Amino acid sequence: MLNPLKLLLLAIVLVVGRGLLWIVNLLVVAPLFDPLRKLPGPPGPFFFSHIQSVVKPSYPSPDLSATQHEEWKKQYGKTFRYHGSGKFDYRLMTFDLRAVSHILMSPIYQKPRVTRTFLSTMLGQGIFTTEGAEHAFQRKIIGPAFNLQSIKTLTPIFLRTAEELRDKWDVIVSNGQETIDVCHWISRATFDAFGMACLTYNFRAIHGETEELYLAFRRMFDLADKKGILRILVPILDKFWPDKIVRSVLESRQVIYATGRRLISEKKSTILADKGSSNVSNERDLLSLLIQSNLCTNDPTKALSDPELLDQISSFFFAGSDTTALSLSWCLYFLALHPDIQTRLREELNHPTTLEPTSSQGFNFEDRAYDMLESFSLLDSVVRETLRLAPPVHGTLRVATQNDLIPVSEPVVLTNGTVVAPGEYIQIRKGSIIHIPIEGLNFAKDIWSEDTLQFRPDRWCSLPPVAQPPNFPGLANLMTFSFGPSSCPGYRFTITEMKAFLSTILPHYTFSVPEGQTISKRNGLFTRPFVKGKSKMGVQLPLTVKHIDEYSP
Ligand code: HEM
Ligand SMILES: *[C@@H]1O[C@H](CO)[C@@H](O)[C@H](O)[C@H]1NC(C)=O
Ligand SMILES: *[C@@H]1O[C@H](CO)[C@@H](O)[C@H](O)[C@H]1NC(C)=O
Repeated sequence: MLNPLKLLLLAIVLVVGRGLLWIVNLLVVAPLFDPLRKLPGPPGPFFFSHIQSVVKPSYPSPDLSATQHEEWKKQYGKTFRYHGSGKFDYRLMTFDLRAVSHILMSPIYQKPRVTRTFLSTMLGQGIFTTEGAEHAFQRKIIGPAFNLQSIKTLTPIFLRTAEELRDKWDVIVSNGQETIDVCHWISRATFDAFGMACLTYNFRAIHGETEELYLAFRRMFDLADKKGILRILVPILDKFWPDKIVRSVLESRQVIYATGRRLISEKKSTILADKGSSNVSNERDLLSLLIQSNLCTNDPTKALSDPELLDQISSFFFAGSDTTALSLSWCLYFLALHPDIQTRLREELNHPTTLEPTSSQGFNFEDRAYDMLESFSLLDSVVRETLRLAPPVHGTLRVATQNDLIPVSEPVVLTNGTVVAPGEYIQIRKGSIIHIPIEGLNFAKDIWSEDTLQFRPDRWCSLPPVAQPPNFPGLANLMTFSFGPSSCPGYRFTITEMKAFLSTILPHYTFSVPEGQTISKRNGLFTRPFVKGKSKMGVQLPLTVKHIDEYSP
């Protein structure tokens, strides 16, 4: 007969044995049969990870990942594998646009569970954390908030916020010249613009950072950037052993829900009242558009609940406010580095062409503001070139949810000597991770030409044919907003906001880089600027801002 002690021992042996088997399988057996093993790629000892070298920031220090990518491409071709957490964790990286578009367009590939769990602590069950049919449904609900008409309506908001920032700077730069952290100021201003655009809610962050909802969003996103890798990889820790970060995120979410619920009920009653009186609703912020779209869905059982609507709004804030602020800040930095382009752009902005009415109904203020911004051609090139050279999201990951064949347009030489020819396929196994190098693709010399690390807005007037395929008209092969069913719906929002700010600020100020100062990029959740040698001081981008005296001869 077994006594309890032996039984316990047996149980322990079984559990430990199973664990060991799992580990042996993970580290040794499974990798042996991983088709990615046959792909060429950089070597390394068993626990060596290449992650550092593939995400190291690369501008303006092109000695890092940009060079690394080019080197690997030369050595292994455009499609290769690298070691994720170690040799047992092969990851696919590809610069082959055929393969990239297959991966981004196919429903087989999803965001890795780790990413989704991590984001769901902040963003609940929003667009970032769902996949498949649920994701497609949410995408449909948020669609109207991002169409051209909606962005046109928001244009005056962007312009007004930009003017507020300009006026604030007038006070700060009252001596005529001052070195200020433009990243910080732009970030406050874009948050204000976002509050107005999303919720018709004024954080007044340009004037002081005290508003409760503003602070809640800020705290939540700042903390997300500080989250340790262990907690990202082992999310169960958060559930049973919440640390300061998790607790603070939850507190912030409570503030967001409390204020959000009030805003939703106010907006709902206005919208319903307008509907009842068959008035066309004047509520044009993104939340109102979401509510209306949600009311109109043809399957009301699936309609989003109020907390789910708020999760979408939090997702917009998360995805859109810092990224837009960073793009604008990088743009001012590039203009500071290139005074000739800055002067040309200012000239263009100071001489707007008069616009003819586009429709028989004559002018509508919003359309007019939008069309005006669209009429500046150098402005358009400067914005695109900034987005290409400093994409705030430097890369994204996908996981294969089943075995698949990925088509390639350039030969891949497998390690056993077999050549996978253009038009043929490489194998990928369920569970494999794919790294889409957004920044790397934006820097690829074979797409954008040899001077790809240069800030040269004029390239947008004569792009090489490979850079402008028909699949995403307007943005060419810019990878900054990704492609396919999970691509960024906010690209037009960002571009228009950037144009509104630049067109308001540049005619009033010149920007230059303080003597002896070098700015570096750092890749966290987003790609942020630091002063070289002063990274301990955190994110900052000090530029010398000089007032242009309108009355000087
Ligand atoms: C420079 C500014 C921006 C950049 C670089 C950017 C970049 C991206 C990228 C790369 C993705 C895809 C992520 C992935 O597939 O892994 C994405 C998704 C998304 N972005 Fe943006 N974004 C920007 C601005 C905005 C703005 C202003 C908004 C909203 C107002 C927004 C809302 C979203 C949303 C909701 C998604 C999720 C789409 C989905 O999962 O279907 N983004 N963004
Ligand atoms: C409908 O619009 C008219 C005119 O703008 C306004 O007077 C009226 O109060 C609106 N009705 C409701 C229920 O808001
Ligand atoms: C090399 O590997 C590929 C993919 O597994 C296989 O199709 C091919 O037959 C192999 N070639 C040789 C020469 O073993």
